[in-house]
Amino acid sequence: MDLGQNKVIDEGKQGEATLIEGNAPSNGKKLYVESYGCQMNFSDSEVVASIMSNEGYTTTRNVDEADVVLINTCSIRENAETRVRNRLTEFKIKKEQNPDLVVGILGCMAERLKKALLEEEKLVDLVAGPDAYRDLPNLVEEVGTGQKAVNVLLSRDETYADISPVRLDQGGVAAFVTITRGCDNMCSFCVVPFTRGRERSRDPHTIVNECKDLFAKGYREVTLLGQNVDSYRWNMTSKGEIKDETQATTNFAELMEMVALISPDLRVRFSTSHPKDMTDDVLEMMAKYENICNYIHLPVQSGNTAVLERMNRSYTREWYMDRIEAIRRIVPGCAISTDIITGFCGETEEEHEETKSLMDWVEYDYAYMFKYSERPKTLAERRFDDDVPEEVKGRRLTEIVDMQQAHSLKNNQKQIGNIDRVLVEGYSKRSQDDMCGRNSKNSMIVFPKGDFGKGDYVMVKINDCTSATLKGEVVSICPKN
Ligand code: 5AD
Ligand code: SF4
Repeated sequence: MDLGQNKVIDEGKQGEATLIEGNAPSNGKKLYVESYGCQMNFSDSEVVASIMSNEGYTTTRNVDEADVVLINTCSIRENAETRVRNRLTEFKIKKEQNPDLVVGILGCMAERLKKALLEEEKLVDLVAGPDAYRDLPNLVEEVGTGQKAVNVLLSRDETYADISPVRLDQGGVAAFVTITRGCDNMCSFCVVPFTRGRERSRDPHTIVNECKDLFAKGYREVTLLGQNVDSYRWNMTSKGEIKDETQATTNFAELMEMVALISPDLRVRFSTSHPKDMTDDVLEMMAKYENICNYIHLPVQSGNTAVLERMNRSYTREWYMDRIEAIRRIVPGCAISTDIITGFCGETEEEHEETKSLMDWVEYDYAYMFKYSERPKTLAERRFDDDVPEEVKGRRLTEIVDMQQAHSLKNNQKQIGNIDRVLVEGYSKRSQDDMCGRNSKNSMIVFPKGDFGKGDYVMVKINDCTSATLKGEVVSICPKN
């Protein structure tokens, strides 16, 4: 899933609790939701919080006072699953102290591990897959009657379009809005098509309304989320035929424009793009609107055509390079990040060197890099041997990580001296005397606090950097539009 990739998207992110205010009269019960994995999971937890709050649940960040604990899980690599399993073992101890506690798992591990977790290891009482969240109140009730509650049915059309997610960061500045669910691509290494099902697009009007509502609540940035945003299409088949002649069609470029037109003060980002589907009309739309950010996450996975073929990525090294050239031509100055897998089945030293030479050619601003982890049911598991030794995977990973660090530093150094429009996100992690925010290229910038606050736009002169962060000073505060 390219989507991981909003880069909170690694399973390396610790589980985080979702906190909501209730929408309905309280039923006196408390819900604790913890999320792992990609940004889509974090967004889904907000949908879950909304569904449960309509039943009267209030959420808590304190697991010790919870009546229901839900863990939204990730299966993308084996270590993501291991982390969740360890966490479930901790909850098992809590359950022994409080037998009424309901523990459930949601998300990508649901389908795959339902039997093991519910029946064999007895770690959970409830299992709900990514398309079954509307059923959660019933499932919790079933547990109350002593049954093991399971719903892992995948849907062809569930998009939760009508559910207004309850935001985890009340008073926040940047929000994620889901535009497609599932994936039809079948990259051979990827478990997502099995865990999240077929691709479907959400009604554009519900997307625009959600973004308008966020803007009215003070949010100033939305990230449109999908496993492959470029394949967003409303009222069209994948072959481009119109489904309902009486209604308008919408593709991704058009959707982006609809969202960009809400206000020049609402920034628009998106993730993830797919090299095989990213067309020039998307890039032209980025160039047309100042508030569509100059940043693209374009996972390459490998720089070698034979590996890409084994990965079933549907593009070659040359095709990918052509897409990078199109970005540079149509959106000059656009930042580019990527995902790379090292040690995929059969990867030779020469093939690995081709990934490095591609990285040298692109000079990515940022990259998320992973060792290949074989996943059950995937095409790669069925067709190929996971034959690159662990230490070779590790050494190749270190080589590309070092290379990327040098590229990130070089790209950041090039930004020194620029004066950029920055959306203030809050205080810096390190000091209450500094604030931080991002420029259009998605670089994090730290600057001394002043007469401005979260959600304001300021012009920042960049004076210094590391490979991860830019440092600067505010030269002016932007007037509100
Ligand atoms: N092993 C390692 N990395 C993987 N990814 C997806 N599946 C696997 C796997 N089996 C990576 C890809 C994808 C990102 C979200 O996670 O790079 O783009
Ligand atoms: Fe991304 Fe490919 Fe997985 Fe789909 S199958 S989620 S495009 S990596």
